[in-house]
Amino acid sequence: MKRSIALILLTTMLLALTATAPRGASKEPVRARHGVAASVNEIASRVGVEVMQRGGNAIDAAVAVGLALAVTWPSAGNIGGGGFMMIRRADGATEIIDYRERAPLAASRDMYLDGKGDVVKNASTVGYKAVGVPGTVAGLALALSRHGKLKWADVIEPARALAAEGFTLNHQTARGIQGSKDLLSRFPESNRIFLRSGKPFEEGDRIVQPELAQTLARLKEKGPREFYEGETARLIVDDMKANGGLVTARDLKEYEPAIRVPLKGTYRGYEIVTMPPPSSGGAALIEMLNVLEHYDLSRMGWNSSAELHLLVETMRRAFADRAEFMGDADFVKVPVSGLISKKYADRLAQTIAPDHATPSESVRAGKPTGYESTETTHFTLIDDEGNVVSNTYTLNNSFGSGVTAQGTGVLLNNEMDDFTSKPGVPNGYGLLQGEANAIAPRKRPLSAMTPTIVLKDGKFLFAIGSPGGPTIINTVLQIIVNIIDFGMNIQQAIDSPRIHHQWMPDSVRWEPLGVNSDTRAALVKMGHTVSDKPGYIGDAHGVMVEPKTGIRLGASDPRLGGAAIGY
Ligand code: DON
Repeated sequence: MKRSIALILLTTMLLALTATAPRGASKEPVRARHGVAASVNEIASRVGVEVMQRGGNAIDAAVAVGLALAVTWPSAGNIGGGGFMMIRRADGATEIIDYRERAPLAASRDMYLDGKGDVVKNASTVGYKAVGVPGTVAGLALALSRHGKLKWADVIEPARALAAEGFTLNHQTARGIQGSKDLLSRFPESNRIFLRSGKPFEEGDRIVQPELAQTLARLKEKGPREFYEGETARLIVDDMKANGGLVTARDLKEYEPAIRVPLKGTYRGYEIVTMPPPSSGGAALIEMLNVLEHYDLSRMGWNSSAELHLLVETMRRAFADRAEFMGDADFVKVPVSGLISKKYADRLAQTIAPDHATPSESVRAGKPTGYESTETTHFTLIDDEGNVVSNTYTLNNSFGSGVTAQGTGVLLNNEMDDFTSKPGVPNGYGLLQGEANAIAPRKRPLSAMTPTIVLKDGKFLFAIGSPGGPTIINTVLQIIVNIIDFGMNIQQAIDSPRIHHQWMPDSVRWEPLGVNSDTRAALVKMGHTVSDKPGYIGDAHGVMVEPKTGIRLGASDPRLGGAAIGY
């Protein structure tokens, strides 16, 4: 009797211990009474916290972080790209600012094909023709005017100061620049600014960006429309004209962000609030969660071959649907409600065998009624009142098209590669895409960015998102499963190694030390193709509210050295 009481006591103590010092986590989540900013870059997270301490709310702070990252994380932070900002106000009202780039008016379906109908190598990824009409400035300004408390000039100032006065490059930012040396060296302005004309920056160097500082100063003084109609617009358009780009003065003038209603689903009693088209992310996420709800994952054990098998089979099916059905719903009909219905998931689950892989070749869309993550970036904030922002934005690939518009310091995206250049030909992320995502003027390319919020009993629980192209959707999926099925805290859930499968190519990607050789062998035995070498997947940053105490928990991904800062 005594022994069993002692055992119970010991178990309780151990449980309490693991709750405070979880195994497998790089550290404890950051705990804060008032607010948290979690992003890939410490300087930018600090900007966010300072804005909140000055009386700004999470939206003011998010806009300031977005602008600061354009300076301190130039591979993905941007004002020359686009993204999605999900906002949940303290009163529960939720909306998305869609500031995704749009195809220029002169864009056309086959613009990246040669005379023989073949895709011209790099045409949609490198240089002026790859650039979509940027949405970031308009999107951030719209978020601020609808939900912020501070003035535009106040939230842009930290970014301007960082560009004008410079900042010290950390290891990750310097590595990002070095990794894109070949791309940046092809364009004189990028070469001069980011490679110091052949003397690339190193960790610990100070980088000053005077042209970008001037652009931000003009935006500060004249307001966000300056980017689209003022001197900045003129400089971008002149550079486009001189180099065969398609973006015109009219494209910039007519760019408008959109306000979208989030997609909603449920998973084991939790409410999932996520990203609708033009992202494929939210629909695919809900579709996959609906399928996984059929299985007792926690009983199988985290990262067991049984669990990984089900994850892969689910991912494979959702990505086959993505390729077939998804595109900008303002232009094509996307069967979202069918894809996210529980009934459809029942049918999909029936096609999954518990003990062997279904080759992707034999998986077609259903009938519904290496290391790459310095590209794109996600940040998440919560303030004292309980307003939450979950924002993913991007230049697409690292440093986008490689082009810095002459005289502006503004790096331009290569988001056009997210369209289907040609059905059946994989894009830069190896994704096969379909007609629904064909290029058309003003259309938004299909995205995988998936800023997401999870509620329990109608109350905010956590918010998350990640870069990583198509892997974004699976990163968000696995973080949700880690928290809900495996009881991890938000830091553990982010840190835990991930896998990725996207239907085609038919191969399971995995992270270093993530899937041991026994488990890989078991997966191969079931018929899965597992990639030879591991590589890192994603870079997620999240916030959570501890239900019992209301304490804000911040967690930033250790993969790229980000920082969650609270106050
Ligand atoms: O919108 C998309 O899905 C892509 N342009 C995102 C690119 C990305 O995440 C790159 N990061 N590794």
